[in-house]
Amino acid sequence: MYSVETRSLVKSFKDVTAVNDVSFYVEQGEIFGFLGPNGAGKSTTMMILTTLLKPTSGQALINGYDVSINPKDVRENIGYVQQESTVDEYLTGRENLILQAKLNHIPKNQIDSRIDEVLELIELTEKQNEPVVTYSGGMRKRLDIAGGLLHRPKVLFLDEPTVGLDIQTRRKIWEYIKKIHDEFEMTIFLTTHYMEEADQLCDRIGIIDGGKIQVIDSPQNMKNSMGNEVISIILNDEKQTREFIDYISKISNVKNVKSDGVKITVFVSSGTEVLPKIFEFSSSNGIKINSISLTQPTLDDVFISYTGHEIRDDDTKFNRRREHAKMKRLRS
Ligand SMILES: Nc1ncnc2c1ncn2[C@@H]1O[C@H](COP(=O)(O)OP(=O)(O)OP(=O)(O)O)[C@@H](O)[C@H]1O
Ligand SMILES: [Mg+2]
Repeated sequence: MYSVETRSLVKSFKDVTAVNDVSFYVEQGEIFGFLGPNGAGKSTTMMILTTLLKPTSGQALINGYDVSINPKDVRENIGYVQQESTVDEYLTGRENLILQAKLNHIPKNQIDSRIDEVLELIELTEKQNEPVVTYSGGMRKRLDIAGGLLHRPKVLFLDEPTVGLDIQTRRKIWEYIKKIHDEFEMTIFLTTHYMEEADQLCDRIGIIDGGKIQVIDSPQNMKNSMGNEVISIILNDEKQTREFIDYISKISNVKNVKSDGVKITVFVSSGTEVLPKIFEFSSSNGIKINSISLTQPTLDDVFISYTGHEIRDDDTKFNRRREHAKMKRLRS
């Protein structure tokens, strides 16, 4: 039985199909990630899996329980840490967790020990009696995550667990996620628009764009499928690009060629064999190369090859959205 499974899942809002025929599974104990840009349908999928939204059609199952038929069983099996923080800034860390424990119907006589346990795990024991307003962004996120762990769920959902945090804090959160996974043997399903995060944390990744899954595989397999190395070439003259690409595509060891203006990206199985041929062709045809480099493929390359565009990595937009959400909450 899979921890998470969807079959032809669809979610339509008035004029948007946010989730468009999405099928995938997550194995018990796996860390699985949805990687995709703003508006890809990541949060919507997660909200269906956590019973907060009803699917328009298709099926979603958690440990065999259908979200539409057995929502209560689903909720007992899952922890969910939302994209936006839900902690109350004017309560202490511990008070927030007490609230959360009560909401999760944790038996009274177990509340204290459970809270001690998660505080220890996420290393907030010392700060527990201070109000959350005094916490850093990373500490707040850790508190959010702690709240999702209190009832010891079998499957933990993390929606953009590190969005808006600086890179050092992000790396620390990754360590906590790994620790939770190892110590509790939990299945973890996370969403992210950070390549490095997906690469570092996930056993397998689904690339989602425009409500559709473009590919699902391990980060390593994805990178391997790109060829072992990437040659990036910048030419002087856009008119010569076509001719150059025609030639390069025919070289043995070349797996794929993409171009954008004067920039050519060549996915190859062996750079040392392809490079001399490129130089030969350019010098005998009078084509000037402005720059050329040989690198290992990254998930960025994978993303471009499947979606045709770069992932937007725009934190300011997230922060603006976050402010907007906060304003809405304050007004209502
Ligand atoms: N309640 C809603 N009503 C109408 N449209 C919605 C609603 N919720 C989401 N959408 C739309 O569905 C699409 C997918 O949104 P979703 O929030 O799932 O994306 P996401 O991948 O989580 O993006 P982000 O990275 O910005 O969090 C977007 O076009 C969004 O505008
Ligand atoms: Mg989202």
